[in-house]
Amino acid sequence: MFRRLKKYLRRFSLFKSQTVITESKPRIGINTEIHDCDISPLTSVGKNCYLYKTSLGAFTYLSQNVNIMNSAIGKFCSIGQGVCISTGMHPSSTFVSTHPAFFSLHKQSGATFAKESHFREMGHTTIGNDVWIGTNAIIMDDLTIGDGAIIGAGAIVTKDVLPYSIVVGNPAKHLRFRFEKDEIDFLLAFKWWTKDLAWIEENYIQFHDIKSFMKNNSGNH
Ligand SMILES: CC(C)(COP(=O)(O)OP(=O)(O)OC[C@H]1O[C@@H](n2cnc3c(N)ncnc32)[C@H](O)[C@@H]1OP(=O)(O)O)[C@@H](O)C(=O)NCCC(=O)NCCS
Repeated sequence: MFRRLKKYLRRFSLFKSQTVITESKPRIGINTEIHDCDISPLTSVGKNCYLYKTSLGAFTYLSQNVNIMNSAIGKFCSIGQGVCISTGMHPSSTFVSTHPAFFSLHKQSGATFAKESHFREMGHTTIGNDVWIGTNAIIMDDLTIGDGAIIGAGAIVTKDVLPYSIVVGNPAKHLRFRFEKDEIDFLLAFKWWTKDLAWIEENYIQFHDIKSFMKNNSGNH
């Protein structure tokens, strides 16, 4: 009788074992295209996304309609819908036309006049760990977004973002830091995202409060 009850409760997630890790491959939504990427098995990419030459660390997840090119994205990042990261560049000075038919071999419109590449069209953007990127934010090429940063919804990021900084607006500006300086220094040295999953699982409750996290882990790194 008890065994039957346990089975029934487990079916409705009320009696699950502690282990959180169940996925052995990434979850990929419909109409999503992924080319030449390095995607951790523990990730989720929503529908209608496009990923090119991009790496995603464990636990990072993308909502729908996300477009990312030439980027390295760390672990535990949350990426909102409609976000665009490092999607390419056209010349904005010197060149008479911004059209790639004059500088690119990629034939974006189906044809090109260029006999070789004359312009660096793609940058490379690095996003740290535990970064939260709000809905419809745009992050330009060749930027570095530090660990723990938050990019507000709709922000257009044109400059590097410091670790644990919150930036908002167009162009994105620093609003405030998430934590006090000593707390940020602690987190950047501790790098909890490098801990093994058993440690994170055992200590997850501490993640709810920076003060107790610091108190319990000082001298632990
Ligand atoms: C960036 C963000 C985290 C800031 O949250 P917060 O620290 O609680 O900030 P507050 O709401 O107290 O706002 C502080 C100030 O920033 C402004 N602000 C907040 N978010 C903003 C944004 N995305 N763009 C522009 N300004 C913003 C507020 O208007 C306020 O301005 P004021 O001081 O002149 O009144 C949040 O506003 C945000 O954009 N979250 C993303 C939500 C989202 O995209 N969810 C879906 C994906 S999971």
